Order: sequence, then C-alpha cells, then structure tokens
Amino acid sequence: MNDRGQPVRSVAAGVLQAVENGQSLTQCLPRALNEVADNERPQLQALCYGSCRWFHRLDAELQARLKKPLRKPDRIVHHLLLVALFQLRFSQQAPYAVLNETVEACRALNKPHLTGLTNGVLRAAEREGEPAWPDDVARFSHPHWMLEKLRHNWPHDWQAILDANNAQAPMTLRVNARRFSRNGYLQHLADAGIEAAATLFAPYGIQLVAPVPVDRLPWFADGAVSVQDEAAQLCTTLMDLAPGQRVLDACAAPGGKTCAILESCAALDEVVAIDESTDRLPRVQENLDRLDLIATLKQADAADIDQWWDQRPFDRILLDVPCSATGVIRRHPDIKLLRRESDIVPLASIQLGLLEAMWQVLAPGGRLVYATCSVFPQENHRIIRRFLKQQNDAVLIEPDVLWGRDMETGRQLLPAAESHDGFFYAVLEKPEP
Ligand SMILES: C[S@@+](CC[C@H](N)C(=O)[O-])C[C@H]1O[C@@H](n2cnc3c(N)ncnc32)[C@H](O)[C@@H]1O
Repeated sequence: MNDRGQPVRSVAAGVLQAVENGQSLTQCLPRALNEVADNERPQLQALCYGSCRWFHRLDAELQARLKKPLRKPDRIVHHLLLVALFQLRFSQQAPYAVLNETVEACRALNKPHLTGLTNGVLRAAEREGEPAWPDDVARFSHPHWMLEKLRHNWPHDWQAILDANNAQAPMTLRVNARRFSRNGYLQHLADAGIEAAATLFAPYGIQLVAPVPVDRLPWFADGAVSVQDEAAQLCTTLMDLAPGQRVLDACAAPGGKTCAILESCAALDEVVAIDESTDRLPRVQENLDRLDLIATLKQADAADIDQWWDQRPFDRILLDVPCSATGVIRRHPDIKLLRRESDIVPLASIQLGLLEAMWQVLAPGGRLVYATCSVFPQENHRIIRRFLKQQNDAVLIEPDVLWGRDMETGRQLLPAAESHDGFFYAVLEKPEP
C-alpha cells in the first residue's frame, strides 16, 4: 500500500485490463504511475511489463486453476491473479507477501466476495508449483497466430525469435558524433562506474551491461547520447548522407532516426521530419531540442503529398513505416496482446502506399531507405519485391554490410537476445534520367 491509497498490484491489474482492452503500455502506464508512490513506480513498471511478457503462459495456468471463468464485471480480479502469478513464477518476492498483498489488493478493488477465491488459487499455485505447459502458446508465451506465422516464415529460427522476444532487452546508446567519439564517451562511462562496450555494427553504438536511469549517463541532458537500439541506429549507415542534401524522414516520431541523421552529417541542406500523429510529433521537437539540432517538422499524412510537399525533391528519404513492431516485442511486450493477425494485410497496404508516394518526391539520383521493426516478410522484403515489380525506375542497392540476412530484396535482422532488435532495411535508388 502507498500514501496515495492504491495497492501497486491493483493498479497493475488495471493496466493489464486496459491493455487487454486495446490500449498500449505507452498510453496507459504513465497515468498509472501517477497513482502510486514514487518509490513504487519501478515495481509497478516491472509488474506491468512482466505480466504482459508472460501473459499467455500465466493465463493458461490461471484458466486451468479457475473452475470456471470469472464473471465479466469481475474480470479485473483475473488480471490481479495474473499479476500475482507473475510474481510467484518470475520474481524473488516471498510467496506469503504476494498472497497477503494480493488479497488486500482484491479488497481495494472492491471485490471482497473474491478474496477467498484469490487466496485459494494462489495457495494452490504456490503449493503445486508451475504446471507443465499444455502447448507452445504457454511454453513460448505468444499468441497462437503469431507463433504459427513465425514458425511458417522462419522454420529454422522461430524458437530463437520467440526466446529473444521474451528476454530483457539491453540498454543501448547512440553517441552524439557531434559531441564525442565513441571511445571518448566509453571512457566517461567507465569513470562514472557504468560498464559498457561498443556495439558490433552501429558505429556510434554503446551497449550497457546493465540498464541505468538516463540521468546517471554523463551529460545526457546536454545531448551527449541518446537511447536507441543498435538495429535502429543502422539506418544512417545506409543513407549515404553528404553535405548539401535535402533529407526527408517521412514517419519520424519520436525522432530517434531524425536526430541520428542530423548527428551523422553536419552540413545537410535541410531535414524535413513528418509524422501524422499530433501526439507523437512534439516528441521529435523535444529530442531535437535536447540534442541542439534543427529540422523542419510537419504534421501530415506523408502519403498525401499534395497536403505537405513544396515540389522540391529530396536527395535522401528515410521511410520508417508503421508496422506490426514484431521485431521489438522484448521492449514492448504488450504487442503480444494488442496485435491481431488481421492487422498485417492492412499494414502492408499502408506500407506499399507510403513507398509509392515517397517515390514521387525522391529526386533523380536520390536514395530511399525503407525500414520496419517487423520480422514478417509480408511487411518487409515482399513489399519491396511488389514495389520493384511495378516501379521500373527503382533500382535495388545491395548494401555491403556484415549484419542481417540477405532476403534478396532487403536485409533482415532478427531480434538477438543479448544485442539488437529485429529490423528490416531495403535501399532503393532512382537513377538520373
Ligand atoms: C516506426 S514509427 C517511426 C519511428 C521513428 N522513425 C524513430 O526512429 O523514432 C512510425 C511512425 O509513423 C507514423 N505514421 C503512420 N502513418 C503515417 C503516415 N501516413 N504519414 C506520416 N506518419 C505516419 C506514426 O505516427 C509513427 O510515429
């Protein structure tokens, strides 16, 4: 219990319920964090992320333990029990404390008639230990459709992908090349007692041995570094940036790649950053401000070029399309609950539509980098294949890189447990006439 009167577990149950009803953790967690005391925030965050990560496994166990499903108005107690099971199975918390505090949370949720059931289910769970997993959904803790799709798309890698999705992602930094060399910043981290090493592929990347709050990172507030996964950092290595170029970041928010572009090449003519989301676009400006960088921001549907384009073509375009985000599940485990199989075909059509539109604003001699954080070929190399079939003047460039897999029409990085996220990149050029 905290001085704001809400037990952490009941708040976590509310968050899990909101996710099940379609809200992302990014949307609902900030509000929930305000309902608990400051010192309980890390615990609330860990409970919400952990319960989403292991939702499908915990839910299989809970359903087996409940003789019949709880009534709809009592569904919140189902979520409370999932949070408690997460703690029993995955945390160091003493079982008696989990039990007592969950019963207390049940009362705080105004469900006194279910305290006996809560107590009984958790006692049995503690006494009997974790049951055998009934199927792969429980074993890998992923929704059935996702599991089957991954098995189909990646017959040799699907288990490694699922395991990587369930692992804790490392904290990775991008050193601001305008301010520090990577080795220089590594030394500052060592001086601050923060263990870290250079990333394998991204030239300005540093991976920390253990995550730290950003305010412990030397000169973070002054723009020395940004938090960005290694795979996301690779975009600038593909863009062939040079002074004088006009660059478009077509789906820019929250601006991680916009800032990486500006950091990696000082004398660009202009960087235009577009995002259709009025909520997310301000995040781009915040990131630019912290890093002391300048870009032209536009809130627009990038595909509707009449709405925003000034008829001046772009030399370089980054098209980091909206996607299933199945390459970043370890950082956003709520994706397992939020994404539906039926989302993929509409997403693919949006992705192809954006690519067709961006081709119109690319200068002859220009280069476009297509990116997703998805591991589904439907959103990745198959989009590029479809585009190349219909667009005669598009030339596929095969980057000379050591990372990822050659998919013939692009390169795929699969999520790797102790390093980068899952990502896809393809590089296209429009020849001079
Ligand atoms: C994968 S995220 C971009 C991440 C960003 N590039 C970064 O590195 O920080 C995709 C973004 O595309 C935006 N978006 C989706 N459809 C769009 C459209 N038609 N036009 C412009 N932005 C769009 C979403 O609001 C979202 O912010």
